Amino acid sequence: MSNKILVTGGAGYIGSHAAVELIQDGYEPVILDNLSAGNRKLVEGIERITAKPVLFYEGDCRDRNLLYRLFEKEKPGAVMHFAALKSVGESVQKPLAYYHNNLDSLMALLEVMQRFEVSNIIFSSSCTVYGQPDSIPVTEDTPFKKAESPYGATKQMCERILEDVSANGLRVLSLRYFNPIGAHPSAHIGEWPSGVPGNLVPFITQAAAGIRKELVVFGNDYQTPDGTCIRDYIHVVDVARAHVHALHYLQQQKSSALFEVFNLGIGRGVSVLEMIRLFEQVTGVSLRWRKGPRRPGDVEKIYADPSRAMHALAWKPQFSIQQALLHAWQWQQKLQDG
Ligand code: UD1
Repeated sequence: MSNKILVTGGAGYIGSHAAVELIQDGYEPVILDNLSAGNRKLVEGIERITAKPVLFYEGDCRDRNLLYRLFEKEKPGAVMHFAALKSVGESVQKPLAYYHNNLDSLMALLEVMQRFEVSNIIFSSSCTVYGQPDSIPVTEDTPFKKAESPYGATKQMCERILEDVSANGLRVLSLRYFNPIGAHPSAHIGEWPSGVPGNLVPFITQAAAGIRKELVVFGNDYQTPDGTCIRDYIHVVDVARAHVHALHYLQQQKSSALFEVFNLGIGRGVSVLEMIRLFEQVTGVSLRWRKGPRRPGDVEKIYADPSRAMHALAWKPQFSIQQALLHAWQWQQKLQDG
């Protein structure tokens, strides 16, 4: 297999961290990103961390002509598909944009992969595919509930498309991320801010930095010990490392048709209030926050059973939630220093 790996969305949050891990493992990422959420500065950050130039194509994954040219020139041996719209709330407002973008970018990629006989793909899925599960922790065999949002529905549909196409000779690993947080310990890459953050940790760091007046905790009347929602927060570098382990695993498999899924979480449920307390402890910064109403579409509690990924991929999360919060804060400070 060529050691070039197409990384769609590689100028984005998780994709940029995966590109670093790929380079450090001897692969050559070829980044394709339309910069709608990603940023060139993150590509520069990858280069700074690894001291290697990075191949970067600016463009949209749905652009079949561009994909064709890229595959012809770079001849990637595998694809990591991160590029997608990912805001739960926005997807409720603009469902068509989510269906168009997330489904068509995958289908365009698969068509061009078939044409160039590239059969290995690692897909960015999400714990959102489970909806609100009946019991936790969730394993990969936990049945899907109705998705809580169009974003969640696109992830369910993408997995279905991949499973169907895999029967005709595609090798797929679908990685279901729980809640990736934090930033690279070097503070050269992290989540690039665009508008008001929808996710908890970027909102916490911006509130702590004084960019936002206060954090609003969405709901404190859930059936959880402190009334706030429970999630499985995992350091983004641990998520990125899992992709390299997944690539090794894929290369070891003999079967020409493969569809396997893995949960990527640390297996620990943490509430929103606990996250606030942990952030204050590790940074020494006190956070302004208040209770607010529930956010529509939020799942009450979910965390992973990550044992399948740990065994099959020989992977283990290395960072604590505290370290992830510290790295998120260091990244925020770096952004403010310009
Ligand atoms: C959801 C999906 C996740 C997906 C991600 C993409 C579920 C269970 N999870 O993450 O798979 O990858 O969207 O964006 O569907 N919160 C506040 N105040 C804020 C922001 C968040 O209290 O200002 C709370 C939320 O109510 C939630 C927790 O913090 O309880 C985490 O929220 P967030 O970071 O947005 O992630 P999810 O919605 O869990």
